Amino acid sequence: MKTLLTGGAGYIGSHTAVAMLEAGHEVAVVDNYYNSSPEAIRRVEQITGKAVTLYEADVADKDAMRKILKAEMPDCIIHFAGLKAVGESVAKPTEYYRNNIDTTLTLLECMKELGLSNIVFSSSATVYGEDNIPPFYETMPKGVCTNPYGWTKWMQEQILRDAWYADKEMSVVLLRYFNPVGAHESGLIGEDPQGIPNNLMPYISQVAVGRRDHLTVFGDDYDTPDGTCRRDYIHVMDLAEGHVKAAEYSVEHRGTEVFNLGTGNPYSVLDMVKAFGDACGHPIKYEIGPRRAGDVQDSWANADKAREVLGWEAKRGIDEICRDAWKWQSTNPQGYGE
Ligand code: NAD
Ligand code: UFG
Repeated sequence: MKTLLTGGAGYIGSHTAVAMLEAGHEVAVVDNYYNSSPEAIRRVEQITGKAVTLYEADVADKDAMRKILKAEMPDCIIHFAGLKAVGESVAKPTEYYRNNIDTTLTLLECMKELGLSNIVFSSSATVYGEDNIPPFYETMPKGVCTNPYGWTKWMQEQILRDAWYADKEMSVVLLRYFNPVGAHESGLIGEDPQGIPNNLMPYISQVAVGRRDHLTVFGDDYDTPDGTCRRDYIHVMDLAEGHVKAAEYSVEHRGTEVFNLGTGNPYSVLDMVKAFGDACGHPIKYEIGPRRAGDVQDSWANADKAREVLGWEAKRGIDEICRDAWKWQSTNPQGYGE
């Protein structure tokens, strides 16, 4: 199968490129490197021994995308390209709505022109909002989001669903990711956040490697066994393999389908701190701070549908997550920037 990965040089896209190539599929990537580096794709090629066709373009640029899609005519598009920092989205809402919505509309318009019908989309567990109680099922109503980033995912899901409603020859697969973490086991590719990390695992990794002094745990007074929030941390290679199954599904089925990609197992912030300390061989220094605005106490998936329909389930646990994140961080302490 020929695939086109928008945003494929990014964290999840680069790992998915590896999984796709290893499953025998062809991969082309389009990225503007807003939050990534072409070095990630060079390393994908190094891991797999296979070539990736790489285009530098803005996915919202219709002329550029028309040319790229005409050249590739992919069987399936996986749409990762987007801005993803929750806090930044509150400060820069128009940039988030413009980029995330425009890329999706441009893709859909070009797909229609060229008769391309299959798309897999990177959505997020954030669309379940604050009022649903975990485990989250795909059948639950979408909730109220707490930030513009979340609303862009909510809206992109709706736009894609409406596009399918108007053209039943389309196949739309909406993947709701839980908390993607870890790195490829080679240590060659991983998450490379710019500036101070917003997310837990990259922050812990940078404390472990000595780039930051200590982690601040955002609140220990939640109604959980150790007082810290619980999440469904999923190894990025498990997530990547879920995309292979989703893309294969998309070419064989028509319709709109939603799948949670999670493990179904919640772990607390302090569980992850402990597991990372075990993986890197020294304890992670942390302090307890106040709660972070907008955090939900608990979020984890019911992952039955992906298992039953796609034949996919997460295989790696938090020990592999921390081992692989540590390998990436310790061998690339400055990320791709070295
Ligand atoms: P990332 O920032 O590493 O990757 C996104 C990629 O898209 C980057 O390479 C960036 O340069 C590119 N990009 C952004 N706007 C573009 C544009 N207009 N044209 C071309 N390229 C563009 O992020 P990621 O963690 O790999 O996330 C991939 C997708 O998954 C995003 O849509 C994100 O919102 C979604 N997602 C991520 C998480 C997470 O925790 N990482 C959770 C849920 C959903
Ligand atoms: N945390 C800390 N200290 C930190 C960073 C995070 O204690 O320095 C805690 C948070 O309070 C939270 C947990 O670690 O309890 C996980 O936080 P992350 O920022 O890693 O992840 P979130 O669950 O908040 O958010 C992630 C993605 C969002 C997505 C959301 C739901 O970053 O893009 O999952 O899918 F919207």
